[in-house]
Amino acid sequence: MYRNTPTTHVLTEKLVVKILQPISSWRMEMDRLKAHVEQRVPPRSLDISDAVVGYAQQLEFARFVEPQIGSNPHYFKSVLSRYIEQIESCSEETSDEVYELLVDPVVLNSRELAPDVAEVVKYHVGGFSRADDCVMKVEETPRLISGVNTTGLRTWEAALFLANFINNRDDDGEMRALFKDKVVLELGCGTGLLGLSLAKYGLVRRMIMTDGSTAVFEHNRKLVELNGLDTSAAVSWQQLVWGDDAFCIKEKVDVVVVAQAFQRHVASEPPESTARSN
Ligand SMILES: C[S@@+](CC[C@H](N)C(=O)[O-])C[C@H]1O[C@@H](n2cnc3c(N)ncnc32)[C@H](O)[C@@H]1O
Repeated sequence: MYRNTPTTHVLTEKLVVKILQPISSWRMEMDRLKAHVEQRVPPRSLDISDAVVGYAQQLEFARFVEPQIGSNPHYFKSVLSRYIEQIESCSEETSDEVYELLVDPVVLNSRELAPDVAEVVKYHVGGFSRADDCVMKVEETPRLISGVNTTGLRTWEAALFLANFINNRDDDGEMRALFKDKVVLELGCGTGLLGLSLAKYGLVRRMIMTDGSTAVFEHNRKLVELNGLDTSAAVSWQQLVWGDDAFCIKEKVDVVVVAQAFQRHVASEPPESTARSN
């Protein structure tokens, strides 16, 4: 009968560590790649690691792509081409599973979606260094710069950056603690990624979403449902045009967040002055 002696125990541990190490490194790279694809990062900017081009990884990637390929065949055509390029540059063989996805006539003959076609994009917002479980789904028009007199129908990088900075799970919750039980107001909320991520994953007491354009609120409300946010969760929407006293906020606000403070050339009327006057 086999017995677990101290020596075999140590050997087993060593073996497990040896086996698990490479798995955990490709796992991280694979999760990151999937997160970037869900976020619709342009294929030319995808950083595809050599660790995710082996046969087992190709099968996993193919299984991940297959169910969503119909939502934007052109995007996935470019992603798969880029993936195959990387596979070949590592002198690996492209698996039939990956190749067949690319040569599907719907994918092969696809064209870029029109700018006004909306897509559900998934953003990871729990910190920069990992693809975690804090995911926000946003229905948006990522190819549209501006429409219906607003630039708020697509999510801008600044919102993703700030959402990750505040919701960060890697810094012992230091930033999250600053928002704990606070009434938080967002200026120029656009698609709502930042404010609604705080409502879902942050510790805020109340979230007041504001924007100059009321067109964005309709989209925001869809996101409440899409993200399974508790509708009784304290989120409200109010029109607020920066620098216009007619749109004064009556209640006491503890923290104001403004994603576009991270962007240059955003507006002629600085949102900072609105934050002060309210
Ligand atoms: C570049 S988008 C950014 C949206 C969102 N914060 C993000 O980062 O994804 C700017 C947002 O600010 C709003 N906005 C622009 N000028 C404004 C103004 N003068 N007063 C209030 N909102 C304004 C737009 O409607 C739009 O939703």
